Amino acid sequence: MEKMMTRRVYLTVVMSFGMGVWLVGQPVLSAGGDPAKGRPVYEKHCLLCHGPQGRGDGPQGQLMTPPATNFKSPKSKSKPDAVLLKAIREGHPDTAMTNWEGELSEEDMVNVLVYIRGLSGGPEKGL
Ligand code: HEC
Repeated sequence: MEKMMTRRVYLTVVMSFGMGVWLVGQPVLSAGGDPAKGRPVYEKHCLLCHGPQGRGDGPQGQLMTPPATNFKSPKSKSKPDAVLLKAIREGHPDTAMTNWEGELSEEDMVNVLVYIRGLSGGPEKGL
């Protein structure tokens, strides 16, 4: 009997810890990001290269080497939020992707990321 109790307490502790880790893992992006606020940021700063639908086909997107990323490509879609956010913050060295840290607020970078995620996974809206 006591063994059962101990196991139950153990399970509860493990599960609460698990929930805690899960909650901590969720945060900034889904909780903090607002795609509606990200959209004007995207249209102002990113569309020129990444294109209205995020396909990398903005007016300048294909003129450079490497070309602007197509966010709908399986390769880009499969990258975790943290990797894309780092790309936005720090840029990619030796490419046209410059660092936006300092230029955009932390909040805007998260908002624009959430907007990109909506573009890459969401239904075609045909802007
Ligand atoms: C001058 C053109 C240009 C502009 C403007 C631009 N990008 Fe990029 N971006 C690029 C290029 C080129 C790459 C690909 C770099 C590479 O292949 O390493 C890229 C890569 C990225 C990536 C990494 C994608 C991946 O799958 O690894 C993200 C995320 C990104 N851009 C977001 C943005 C956001 C958000 C903005 C606006 C705030 C923006 N970019 C503005 C040219 C641009």
